[in-house]
Amino acid sequence: MGTQIERRGLVFPALWLFSVVVFWNKAGAQLRYTIAEELKEGSVVGNIAKDLGIVVSEISVRNLRIASESGKQYFNLDLRNGVLFVQDVIDRENICGQSTNCVLPLQIIIENPLQFYRVEVEIQDINDNSPRFHPEAKIIDVPESTPAGTKFRLEPAQDFDVGSNSVRTYALNKNDNFVLNLKNNKDGTKVPEIVLQRALDREKQAEFLLVLTVVDGGNPTRSGSIEITLTIQDINDNAPVFEQDLYEIKVMENCAPGTLILTVKANDLDEGRNSQIEYSFGPHGLGNINTIFSLNAETGELSVLNHLDYESSKSYEFDIRARDKGIPVMEGQCRVQVTVIDVNDNAPEIIIASSPKPVREDAASGTMVALIKVTDLDSGNNGNVTLTISSNPPFTLKPTFSSHYALVTDKNLDREESSEYNIELKASDCGSPPLLTSKFVTVTILDANDNAPVFSLPVYSVYVWENTTPGSILSSVTAFDLDQGENARIAYSVIDLKSNDIPVSSYVHINSDNGTIFAMHSFDYEKIKVFQIQVQAKDHGSPSLCSNATVHVFIMDQNDNVPSVIYPSALMGSVSHQRMPRSAKAGHLVTKVTAVDADSGHNAWISYWLAEATDASLFTVNLHTGEVRTKRSVSDQDESSQRLIIGIKDNGVPVQSTTVTVDILIEDAFHEPISDYRKKNTEPDKKSGKITLYLIISVASVSLLCLATFFVLLVKCARSSKSSSSCCIRRTDSGYKNPNNLQIQLNTDGPIKYVEVLGGDVMSQSQSFGSYLSPMSEFSDFTLVKPSSTTDFTNTLSVLDASLPDSTWRFESQQVSV
Ligand SMILES: *[C@@H]1O[C@H](CO)[C@@H](O)[C@H](O)[C@H]1NC(C)=O
Ligand SMILES: *[C@@H]1O[C@H](CO)[C@@H](O)[C@H](O)[C@H]1NC(C)=O
Repeated sequence: MGTQIERRGLVFPALWLFSVVVFWNKAGAQLRYTIAEELKEGSVVGNIAKDLGIVVSEISVRNLRIASESGKQYFNLDLRNGVLFVQDVIDRENICGQSTNCVLPLQIIIENPLQFYRVEVEIQDINDNSPRFHPEAKIIDVPESTPAGTKFRLEPAQDFDVGSNSVRTYALNKNDNFVLNLKNNKDGTKVPEIVLQRALDREKQAEFLLVLTVVDGGNPTRSGSIEITLTIQDINDNAPVFEQDLYEIKVMENCAPGTLILTVKANDLDEGRNSQIEYSFGPHGLGNINTIFSLNAETGELSVLNHLDYESSKSYEFDIRARDKGIPVMEGQCRVQVTVIDVNDNAPEIIIASSPKPVREDAASGTMVALIKVTDLDSGNNGNVTLTISSNPPFTLKPTFSSHYALVTDKNLDREESSEYNIELKASDCGSPPLLTSKFVTVTILDANDNAPVFSLPVYSVYVWENTTPGSILSSVTAFDLDQGENARIAYSVIDLKSNDIPVSSYVHINSDNGTIFAMHSFDYEKIKVFQIQVQAKDHGSPSLCSNATVHVFIMDQNDNVPSVIYPSALMGSVSHQRMPRSAKAGHLVTKVTAVDADSGHNAWISYWLAEATDASLFTVNLHTGEVRTKRSVSDQDESSQRLIIGIKDNGVPVQSTTVTVDILIEDAFHEPISDYRKKNTEPDKKSGKITLYLIISVASVSLLCLATFFVLLVKCARSSKSSSSCCIRRTDSGYKNPNNLQIQLNTDGPIKYVEVLGGDVMSQSQSFGSYLSPMSEFSDFTLVKPSSTTDFTNTLSVLDASLPDSTWRFESQQVSV
């Protein structure tokens, strides 16, 4: 190494140091200057001429000049004084970078003699660069779960200056979570690290902003900074949490499917997928919950899926869970209680617990007929049911035990009034509005034998011709019974009236099934004119009921009897002999033919006529009275023996007639036994004498007949007395049938008006009274048999007179009594 000349001088008042170092060696002298970088143009580096010992005047002579070794010419030479000055601003960092030693070499060339000198200009660093981070902002993602103590390495800051002007230290803004740590590299540089001091919670603070400042060692110092954003990255460390643990809601049971009833909400403090919640039904209460409710997985909206039914479930309790989509999944749960509110949606139901039994009409009031139950699926008032009955029927409801009713009879029943009841049961609940149900039950009323048979008429009158054949139908009676079945089945019978010891049943027979009455015998009007039958209708009930009716049987007369001649009394075929004087004048009563007819009415109206006569011009017969009178005076020419045949007929159909033959002897001298009727009609004594005559005749005949009858009976009684002690009252068939067994009844008050010829039968005797008016006659048909006073008799006659249209029926023969 050679001599080293080093000069340092101040170019600016500022403490810029530069030095000239001259090295000398064989190859040439060497100059060395030291300047600070960034000197202004024209700043003097050093006086080369002087340092090389060249006189100022020689500079231009020797042609002093510089040549740069590198391309760029930072320096120039002032040829006037040989001063080297800065021609262009020198940036050390630009030329030398981070190299500590920065030298710009120059060649100094001098001619005459040619000499080369080497000049080195050392550029000294000044603190003209601030330390800088690159880039100046940084984002670091930090997992939330990062443990305390974790280091985050940062890029060191850069300073283009060197030496002490370069990076000296770092500083971190104050914060609770991070501290700065400087790590020394082997090359002496420091690497900044930030260290996590405590665990992070993204949910508390999701981002930290740190500012790291770097300071260099210059004077004055320069600094730079970097903004570090620490973003805390979420981890799924929070479960979703429902806003309520328990949701209680009430829902009407009739809400429509699809109705939104509740929205549940859960919150997740995490973010992103870790906070994306999906709702679902929890395991508790699952089963059929998802058939009843639907849950929107995203919104948490709970709605009714199907119809709710309070009656099948009054409440629902289930869990809803919320699950996030983080990994691992976190979930939260809440409880939902749905209370279903009853709506009156169920009508009451009527159940016939025991079907209506048929009830007898005579059942006591209060007899149970049916048992009825009412139910309603609703609750409370909606399920509170009352049962009522339509008011009319004679039934009532009696509450028994819980919601049961007994249908009982209320009044006495009457099957004949109503045999069946259709009862409407109405059930109504107490809801608002109430729901109604109705049901019909039919109650059948059974018959009891409470109605007696009733005849269609209380009294029947039957008219029947005599002489009808035995076994013919007499009449028919009918009775009705309002009851049913056997209680209404009627048996007819004849009550045996034992009056007069003759059982009626011997006359008639009744068909017990249909009430037809048959005649057992043929009746003879002349023996029996009327009789009564008591018929009875009896039902088959138990006990049976019966009722009676009376049948009056009137026998109607037929013209079955020939008029029989009473006077002149003559046995059949014989001739009556009468006498009369030849002196008789016209109108002389010769005799009087009297006949009677066993029939009655028209059949007994007898008329007389002259059928044959020896001399028809001499006699006349009164049509009605049967008086035979002379038409004219008897003359001497008239034969003394006259024969008359007088016809007698009745007025029946067919006419029954007979004749009587009267022989009259006309005597020339004759004591007149019968005074002229007409002449003596003013004398009552005559009249009574005439009647007496008739009476004597009649009584004699009757006595004869009675005597004959008595004897006949006596004989018969004597014959049969061994077998029967009551023979006297026993009626024999022969006696009954014998038409000759007659009684003649006379009215002795006044002239003979009527002669009743009666059969010997006791029964017929009793029955023969009372028939005043014959039904077959359109006129008053007198059958006067009762003894009556004269005044009664005449009264009756006048009534009869007035009622008879035919004047011929005036009773001429009774002029005397009028
Ligand atoms: C009643 O029955 C009898 C015998 O069977 C019969 O002859 C008669 O005609 C019946 N009467 C009525 C009214 O049917
Ligand atoms: C019917 O007549 C019978 C016999 O006379 C009598 O015993 C009965 O009581 C009567 N019945 C009625 C309902 O009158």
